[in-house]
Amino acid sequence: MQNAGRNFTSCAFYDTMKGMEEQTKSGYIMISGATGGVGRAFAFECAARGKKLFLTGRSEARLDALIGEIRGRYASVCADRFACDLTDMHSREEMFSYIGEQGYTFSGLCNIAGADIQKPFERYTQEKIAFQCRVNVEAAMSLTHFVLGRRDKSLEIVAMGSISAVYPMPYFAIYSATKKALEYFFMSLRVELRGSGVKVTVVEPGGIYTRPDICKDIEGQGVWGKLSAKTPAYIAKKSLNAVRRNKRLIRPGFWNKFIAAVPRLVPLGVRMRFIAHRWKKLEKDAF
Ligand SMILES: NC(=O)c1ccc[n+]([C@@H]2O[C@H](COP(=O)([O-])OP(=O)(O)OC[C@H]3O[C@@H](n4cnc5c(N)ncnc54)[C@H](OP(=O)(O)O)[C@@H]3O)[C@@H](O)[C@H]2O)c1
Repeated sequence: MQNAGRNFTSCAFYDTMKGMEEQTKSGYIMISGATGGVGRAFAFECAARGKKLFLTGRSEARLDALIGEIRGRYASVCADRFACDLTDMHSREEMFSYIGEQGYTFSGLCNIAGADIQKPFERYTQEKIAFQCRVNVEAAMSLTHFVLGRRDKSLEIVAMGSISAVYPMPYFAIYSATKKALEYFFMSLRVELRGSGVKVTVVEPGGIYTRPDICKDIEGQGVWGKLSAKTPAYIAKKSLNAVRRNKRLIRPGFWNKFIAAVPRLVPLGVRMRFIAHRWKKLEKDAF
């Protein structure tokens, strides 16, 4: 991973104007997981809304390619990036130092990075347990803490959870537990920051058509999967609209709202046996 510290900002006009410098440094939206299916949709949606982008993912080449693509559609977009392994505190510190040197401040943070490892818990390694907890929870908390310290007058924070937080999920146990942790953390933070100009929204989507393996899973779930699934662009739009309106929690799509309401009607044991039966045959990994 290489970060030469090159600044990809393209606000040439502003950059040349003395006294306008502060203005060019503020108003960035940080998007983690920008190189993934959902993060990429957030990046395009923010660019369409005229926002300045600060993108992060692990691959500098993929971040640069993404910025190139976004510029192909929105030529005047201000965009910078930093490749960072969010599970590694030192890598995060390097990114924070870079941002400090550049002097960026933020009006938005979209915590999108995440890993959806799915397999029996006994088949995890210690390394994988740490990896999934760190990227899904610790990274979001760490980025949020950093961005709060560099926020503009107002700040909008999106936390990408999952409908998996609604139920404890056998065979998807760490994923659903980490998404629940995110939900509780960001909902609590929202109350702590009331009146400070910071809005916080947790988003809990069902399936999203991103990686080919996820699309295949959705198809494999038949009508249920299709009823629940949405496109990344739909999720990005709904999420950014929701945080603008300062919603606490959204579950985009009618079917997902319905699924979330079921816990009140069906005993937990029955639900978990149903989920275990569904997920037992599926397995996916990540690093
Ligand atoms: N797709 C769905 O069905 C669905 C449903 C509900 C919620 N979600 C949530 O939506 C988010 C994005 O999902 P997706 O479908 O877009 O997944 P994805 O395409 O696999 O993207 C995951 C993103 O997270 C980044 N990431 C993973 N590990 C990282 C690490 N150690 N350090 C820094 N970045 C890391 C990846 O960066 P690299 O490019 O470097 O790997 C990538 O940008 C996740 O939080 C997921 O839980 C997804």
